Amino acid sequence: MSDKPRPVTTRRLAVMKSAGERIVALTAYDALFGSLVDGAGVDVVLVGDSLVTVLCGEESTLAATLDQMIYHGRIVRAGVRRALLVIDMPFMSYQISPEDTKRNAGRVMQETGAQAVKLEGGRVVVPSVRALVEIGIPVMAHLGFTPQSVHALGGARVQGRDPGQADRLIADAHALEEAGAFALVLELLPTPLAAKITESLSMPTIGIGSGPHCDGQVLVLHDMLGLNERFQPRFLKRYALLANDVREAVETYATDVREGRYPDAAHSFAE
Ligand code: KIV
Repeated sequence: MSDKPRPVTTRRLAVMKSAGERIVALTAYDALFGSLVDGAGVDVVLVGDSLVTVLCGEESTLAATLDQMIYHGRIVRAGVRRALLVIDMPFMSYQISPEDTKRNAGRVMQETGAQAVKLEGGRVVVPSVRALVEIGIPVMAHLGFTPQSVHALGGARVQGRDPGQADRLIADAHALEEAGAFALVLELLPTPLAAKITESLSMPTIGIGSGPHCDGQVLVLHDMLGLNERFQPRFLKRYALLANDVREAVETYATDVREGRYPDAAHSFAE
């Protein structure tokens, strides 16, 4: 019998929604964390364009390039065996035309081995979503606070608080489902709106800062591990405080080296 775990598919996520099983998603940016997250049983691993803010110190995700996403997608692929691997399409890789979107998403799929791409936006991206689905590229959509539009939205703010905006988001969600998206990330929506969208769709929703009624949840791994201390929104629960552990370990190592305690005999070769 093979020890290869049964891979999570887009169909499996739909079945999970029907069965009321919650979907667990996390980001990863490299093979090491990809493998840890996958081994811990996460259903979806997202190579988010947040990698440029978290790893590279950029102010926003607008700085991410297609080549960066492909590079990180490929190295995460090396660590992920079971989870569905989704790669974010970066800013300006899907806004020009459906033709351009197909070329760019095709490169992502071919060069990373991912199973799907994610792109942000509502009805305006429907032609691109449809074009990708038609050529066999599964699309995860993303509504609410869409970080690539941070400047237009006036910062990372909860979306859909006024009734007109809520109605537009509901219409966007339905248009994306109709275009063939297999799942929808809902970021920074009020709990009742996220619940209403979730109930009204066949495709699963995956929430971040959108309350408990989505079909699944996603967090940025470095945020929930407490490695990225710059980011502390209300919705974030830290499941570890690894930045403290890193600082303490480095300080202890530095003291040991400076005081001649490392390396000791146990960490040296006698001959
Ligand atoms: O870029 C990212 O990490 C994301 C998640 C926060 C959903 O889009």
